[in-house]
Amino acid sequence: MSKENQPEQDAAPHTGDPTNTAEHSIGIFTRQPRSTMSRIAFWTLLITAILGAAGSIALHIFAGGSIDADVATTVALLATILVWTRIRWLQALGAVGGAILIYLFLTQPFVIESLAQPRADPNGGFYHFVGQLVPIALTCIGLAATIAAVLQNYRSIARKTPRWFPVVSSAVGGMVAGSVFIGALAPGPVIPTVPPLQAPAISSGPGVPIAMNMGMPHAPTSLTQLQDPQTATRVDRFTLTAQPAHLTMSSGVSLPAWTFNGTSPGPTLHVRQGDEVVVTLVNHLSFGVTIHWHGVRVANASDGVAGVTQDAVKPGQSYVYHFTPLDAGTYWYHSHQFSEEETTNGLFGMLIVDPATPTIHADVDTSVALHTWNGPNNQPLYTMNSTDGTLNKAARPGQWVRLRIVNTAETPTGNPQLVTLVGAPFQVVSLDGHDLNGPQQLTQTPLPIGAAQRYDLFFQMPVSGSVALVTADDGSSYVQTPALIIGQGSLPAKLPAVTKWFDLTTYGTPTADPVTPQSHFDTTYSIVLSNQLGTSLGRSGMTYMLNGKVFPDTAMLMVKEGQLIKLHFDNQTNLYHPMHLHGHIMTVLTQNGQPLSGSPVHLDTVLVPPHMTYDVAFVANNPGVWMLHCHNFLHANWGMDMMVTYNVSTPYTIGTASGNFPD
Ligand code: C2O
Ligand code: CU
Repeated sequence: MSKENQPEQDAAPHTGDPTNTAEHSIGIFTRQPRSTMSRIAFWTLLITAILGAAGSIALHIFAGGSIDADVATTVALLATILVWTRIRWLQALGAVGGAILIYLFLTQPFVIESLAQPRADPNGGFYHFVGQLVPIALTCIGLAATIAAVLQNYRSIARKTPRWFPVVSSAVGGMVAGSVFIGALAPGPVIPTVPPLQAPAISSGPGVPIAMNMGMPHAPTSLTQLQDPQTATRVDRFTLTAQPAHLTMSSGVSLPAWTFNGTSPGPTLHVRQGDEVVVTLVNHLSFGVTIHWHGVRVANASDGVAGVTQDAVKPGQSYVYHFTPLDAGTYWYHSHQFSEEETTNGLFGMLIVDPATPTIHADVDTSVALHTWNGPNNQPLYTMNSTDGTLNKAARPGQWVRLRIVNTAETPTGNPQLVTLVGAPFQVVSLDGHDLNGPQQLTQTPLPIGAAQRYDLFFQMPVSGSVALVTADDGSSYVQTPALIIGQGSLPAKLPAVTKWFDLTTYGTPTADPVTPQSHFDTTYSIVLSNQLGTSLGRSGMTYMLNGKVFPDTAMLMVKEGQLIKLHFDNQTNLYHPMHLHGHIMTVLTQNGQPLSGSPVHLDTVLVPPHMTYDVAFVANNPGVWMLHCHNFLHANWGMDMMVTYNVSTPYTIGTASGNFPD
C-alpha cells in the first residue's frame, strides 16, 4: 500500500522515533511520492550538471579553467541531489539552487552578449549561442518542475503536517520567489571586462611612408629566392588560424584577444631539428597578419616580416611557411605586422625544437609563456600561459624537469620580467635556446628575462613537496599569482625576497668558442640607443632611436656573406632595450667592455640595460634583408628598428600603399 493511500491520521507530536514517524505522521524526512514532476526535475537538473561538469573539465584542460563554470556545475549537482531526496523542504532548497543557476547563467556577460547577438563573433557565433541556450532551457524546466513537485499534493499534506510547516514552507517559497526575482531584475555581479580591441592601422598623412623598399634595388638576388631546401625526410605540418577570442582568466577577468586557433598562447609547435616545418597561416581576423619565427635561423623568405619578406596576409587569405630549423632549443612565434598591437594582444605561441640527437634527458619537459595584457581599467594583467592564477604540472619526486620560459610581452616599465624557482636548486641550461657550458646550481636567484628572451631551467624534483615558478611583476617582490606549481603541493605562504639578479656575463664555465673578443671582425657597427620627443610614422610622442634616427629613416647595415660583424650597442637611455637580430645568432663579447668570465653566450635578443654597452658579434651566413630592432614593442613601434642587408632585393614595401607596417 502506498503512503498516499494510507488512512489519514492526526499529526502526532514528533517523537524522533522513526517507526512512529513513518506510521503516524509526516516527519521532516518523509519522502514525497514519486511524481512525474519530480522525475522531470531530477533528470533535467542532472543533465545540466553533467553538461556543466563536461564543460568545466574541458575548460580546465584547454583554457586554464573557469571558476564560474565550476560554481555553476556544483550548484546544479547540489540541486539535483536535493530534488532526488523527494523530501519536500530539501526539494524546495533544490528549487532555490535552480534559481541561483539561472541567475548565474544570466549574469555572465558572454551569455548575455551571445543571447543578444546569436551569430556575432567574438563570442563564438551560433554554436556558442546554442551551447548556452541548452543549459538555460534545461534549468528553467528543472526549476519549474521542482516547484511543481513541491506544491503537488500541497493540500492533502498540509492537513497532515505539524503547525510549523506552513511557516517554513512559505519562508522557503519566499526564498525561491525572491531569488527568481533577484535573478530577473538585479544587476549582475561586476565582472571586470576590457573594451573590445581596435584593428591596428596607421592613417596616411605627412611623415607616413607610402612605399619604402628595404632591399638593395639592383641586387642580383631577390629574397623570394632565398628558401630552405625542401629535402628533409620528416615533415611537420601545422595550421595556425588567426582569429578573435575572449579569454576568461581564473580571476574572472574576461579579455578580448587575437589568437592563433582560439587560444593565447597559440598551440605549442613541437618539432625536431632538421625536420621540414610547414605551417599554414589562415587569417580570420579583419586585418593583416604574418608569423615570424623568433630566433630560428630560417631562410629569409620565411622570416614573416610584413613589408620586408612578404606582404601581410589579408583577411580571409592564407599563406604557407616552410623552414627547417638548424638549431635545437626554445623559440617562439608571433605576428610581425603591427607587432606591438598584434603580439601584445595575443598573436603568439611557442616553438620547441628538439635536438636531432638528444643531449640532456628530462623526464618532464614543460614550457611557460609570460605575458602582460592590458587588463581592466588599463591595469597590467600578468599571465603564465593562459591563466592569471596557478598553473599545475605533474612531476614525481626525483624526476628531472626542463622548464622553458619565454617573455612574450614587456612589463609596463619596460624592465625585464623577474622570475625565480622556489623549492629546488636549478641550473640555467640555455639562453635563447642555446646551451650554456658548465652551468652552476642556483638557489632562488632572480632571473631577468627581457622581452622575447628565453631561459631553460633544469632541476630535480625534491623528495617531497612542489617546485614553483614565481614572478616579481614590479621587480621588487614575488607574488602568489600567476605561478606555475610543479609536483604535489601549493605555494609557500611566504615567498623569498628578491636578491641579486642572475648575471649571464659571469655564469657557467669558460670554454673555447669560434667567436671571441679577440676574433678578427670584418666590420664593426656602433649603434647608439637613445630616446627623445619627436615624430614617428606621422605621430608625435616619445621616439626611440638608433644612431639618432627613427625607423624607417634608420641606416641600413650592409654586410657580405661570410663576414664576421661586430655590433657595439651603446644604451644612452634610462630604459632597458632587448635588441633582437633576425636570422642570425649573436655571440656576446663584452658588457661595458668587460669580456664574459663564464660560459660563452649566444643570443638572438640581447638585453642592454640603461647606460650600459654590449658588444656582440655574428657571422653573416644567412643572406637576406633582416630586421635588427628593440623587442620592447613600444620602442620598436616608435622608431627603434633597422635593417641588416646583404646584397639582396625585395619586391615588398612598407607603407600605406601595401598596408605593411612590421612593428
Ligand atoms: Cu620577435 Cu622582429 O621579432
Ligand atoms: Cu627598447
